[in-house]
Amino acid sequence: MDDIQSLFVKNILRDAGSTLKDSGSAFAASNIALSKYWGKRDAALNLPVNSSLSVSLGDLGTRTEIRLADADSVQLNGTPVELTDGFAVRTLEFLKLFPMVGTHFDVRTENTIPTAAGLASSASGFAALVMALDDLAGWGLDKKKLSMLARLGSGSASRSVYNGFVQWNAGTSADGLDSYAEPLSSDWKDFRIGILELSKARKPVGSRDGMNRTVETSELYKSWPAQANRDIEIIRAAIEARDFPTLGKAAEHNALAMHATMMSAWPPLIYLQPESMVMIHKVQFARADGLEVYLTIDAGPNIKLLFLEENERAVVDVFQGLEVVKPFG
Ligand code: DP6
Repeated sequence: MDDIQSLFVKNILRDAGSTLKDSGSAFAASNIALSKYWGKRDAALNLPVNSSLSVSLGDLGTRTEIRLADADSVQLNGTPVELTDGFAVRTLEFLKLFPMVGTHFDVRTENTIPTAAGLASSASGFAALVMALDDLAGWGLDKKKLSMLARLGSGSASRSVYNGFVQWNAGTSADGLDSYAEPLSSDWKDFRIGILELSKARKPVGSRDGMNRTVETSELYKSWPAQANRDIEIIRAAIEARDFPTLGKAAEHNALAMHATMMSAWPPLIYLQPESMVMIHKVQFARADGLEVYLTIDAGPNIKLLFLEENERAVVDVFQGLEVVKPFG
């Protein structure tokens, strides 16, 4: 464990309670960024280059249960996971940041979304893990602190401690104490997200390595922070004004600009599959036909559609097999 990380954790837990229970559990919804987090300014504290803004996925997410144990064990969707598997390694490495709670843990995780297929299961995964740990240890931390601890596991997890529209402020301080997520006040009842699962395959390069490679090797990345700062402001204002087309355009522009930085990395990062390209064109055709539908894509092949309830029927007609999520119930 990094000294800087353990100092950070101690700082966050300074006034925390300590009523240990037999087990802790929590659910966190996954989230999809409308204005993406892509690039770190500090690896140890997992501080981002730019702020990001997301919407959560209702009941799609992660439920985690955690207990102290004599030896580490990790279960994913009811099946024991080898401790050398990437998922178990990241989970247990994260728990090593909390020796004050225990040395070995039994962790049971249920995902209602495919793991590592670009549907942000690490976001809900680390948020649920931190909240379950808080429950187990009886810390009673507020959401701001939970968000900062979840951030250490995965940046996008900082946003998954809340529901609805959420902004993760990049912050500027070196100690990482001003980099946490906050809920945005508005909800938007007829807002819809459509998930098109084009591939369940694990992606060859995870977001973490992908963003590091992009920052290090992509000339185009230099233009990213300015684009991200512009988009987040446009999207924030569009949420307040319930201006869906403006939100949709900015979110789609943001996602494709991020993919442009990925493709211009070396070796190139091409998360999009042929099926993804077909869908990107299909969305453009649908829009040209007058259907108000936009897309966003994370570091994976799957496409998420953004639309309003009034167009749900038409969108589902065009995009067969779409799973429709109502972020605001
Ligand atoms: C493209 O949060 O998975 O989904 O902090 O290294 O764990 P780490 O990265 P992660 O990256 C998410 C990248 C993204 C955009 C986003 O969710 O904002």
